[in-house]
Amino acid sequence: MSIDLGVTGDFHVHLRDGKMMELIAPTVREGGVSIAYIMPNLVPPITTIDRVVQYKNELQALAPKTTFLMTLYLSKELTPELIHEAAKLKAIAGVKCYPAGVTTNSSAGVDPNDFSDFYPIFKALEEENLVLNLHGEKPSTDKDGEEIHVLNAEPEFLPALKKLHSDFPNLKIVLEHCTTKAAIDTINEINQDNKGPIKVAASITAHHLSLIVDNWAGNPINFCKPVAKLPQDRKALVAAATSGNPWFFFGSDSAPHPLHAKQVHVGVCAGVYTQALAIPYIAQVFDKQGKLDKLKGFVSDFGKQFYEIKEEDLVSKDHTILVRKEQQVPDVVSQGDLKVAPFKAGEKLDFSIEWKSIN
Ligand code: DOR
Ligand code: ZN
Repeated sequence: MSIDLGVTGDFHVHLRDGKMMELIAPTVREGGVSIAYIMPNLVPPITTIDRVVQYKNELQALAPKTTFLMTLYLSKELTPELIHEAAKLKAIAGVKCYPAGVTTNSSAGVDPNDFSDFYPIFKALEEENLVLNLHGEKPSTDKDGEEIHVLNAEPEFLPALKKLHSDFPNLKIVLEHCTTKAAIDTINEINQDNKGPIKVAASITAHHLSLIVDNWAGNPINFCKPVAKLPQDRKALVAAATSGNPWFFFGSDSAPHPLHAKQVHVGVCAGVYTQALAIPYIAQVFDKQGKLDKLKGFVSDFGKQFYEIKEEDLVSKDHTILVRKEQQVPDVVSQGDLKVAPFKAGEKLDFSIEWKSIN
């Protein structure tokens, strides 16, 4: 059995910088992914055109056959002029918004209770047909009457998403790494009423299609933000991913951390590393549902449609071929002293990928 998945895309990727980038950037292709949408949460975050261009060049040198789509980090340093200039230079595909403090390297982020300072940026994005990528969580607070915690942080963010969509109806927005039935229902509702092109989409990771609360409580390797939720949430995510609805597409949120930073008792880094086996992990879930026929839409067609990616933007047109061939997830991915634990380390997967060269 083999399935031609065409030119695949992973629309939410963390490739880091320095030694980690050298180790991880080549694993995009190993995981069966052709187009990678790159997150800007480096230290310091990527907020200038020079830096985003430089970062893309570094990545391209490490992974010549991967098409990189770049983003800037939403912060006070961005201006509408900078967005217009970045659009003119085709330097970015979107801007990533992190509420301050919700996850790894988000301290420079924004207050999701009041986005109004950033409305000029959103207007510029809307005018340029660029995308706003939202980390959709409210920051935790234990104040009486407005307790926000890891389990309700995403549902509590959804009114802010709806408000942004109603204030900027032509702005393309992605609610990244959805983890709840509430989020899935909201995205479906927005799209069911919409007759025109998709304006509000959602990305779904590989790990959230497998994990629930129990899998990260006690296992830091599976801890990420937003955290995996309850079985009914996972069920809604699997249904959405395999639905064939084009407003749901793949974004792995693969987020590598050095193994030693995961093996601590306090202050565990959030992030699950899935890049090196991205497509086989997803295929496993689709196969279990008897929905392999819906896989190409999710990992290939829908993301490219939403981002309006053209053939001429691709550095390689090679196709990913999914084959039913067992493989074992390695215990670690490493280079020198640097070690990263992959998702489902040591487990067997039923699928592998091959590349079909297209000129
Ligand atoms: O788990 C996560 N890790 N969630 C994010 O939003 C960021 C990411 C990271 O950069 O490690
Ligand atoms: Zn992320």
